[in-house]
Amino acid sequence: MINERVGVYPGSFDPITTGHIDIITRAQGLMDKLIVGVAINTGKSPLFSFDERMEMLRRELGDLPSGNGLAELEVRPIDGLLVQFARSCGASMIVRGLRAVSDFDYEFQMAGMNARMEKDVETVFLMASERHTFIASRLVKEVALLGGDYRSFVPERVGHQLAKAVERYRERAD
Ligand code: PNS
Repeated sequence: MINERVGVYPGSFDPITTGHIDIITRAQGLMDKLIVGVAINTGKSPLFSFDERMEMLRRELGDLPSGNGLAELEVRPIDGLLVQFARSCGASMIVRGLRAVSDFDYEFQMAGMNARMEKDVETVFLMASERHTFIASRLVKEVALLGGDYRSFVPERVGHQLAKAVERYRERAD
């Protein structure tokens, strides 16, 4: 498509939550193509391997509608700088979700540095919808590891994978 509006939605997705899916489906109305970028190096030690995170995203996004005014979805690895990834995708936007004031500082710095490095790529913030404002992968993992009920925070199949990952983690810790 000529003059296609392409956006990237980057993240660690360790694991993908219903909050991420909310941002993705809302961003789909704003562009023609949305490329979900999965960070290979998260800077943290992830619970799920890179391959598991990619596979989860491809599967969950495969169930979402696209076309007819909703952006086509694609999942790709980010190996290196986000702005270089955005450029290589032909993207004019980086989409990030904002939940609470506590996200702002980190997001502000990242958006500022990315803008300095790549002035033609705009960071666009979407506010998480009220049902999802509190969901964070980090806390979902903590709840799961401590035996809480995390099922409403993640898609169903991701919940099953999370249960297995928690088992694996506990076996290693024993
Ligand atoms: O879901 P997260 O962990 O908040 O996502 C963070 C992510 C992947 C967007 C960020 O770590 C990132 O952009 N990584 C790519 C490397 C990069 O460009 N770093 C410089 C940012 S100014």
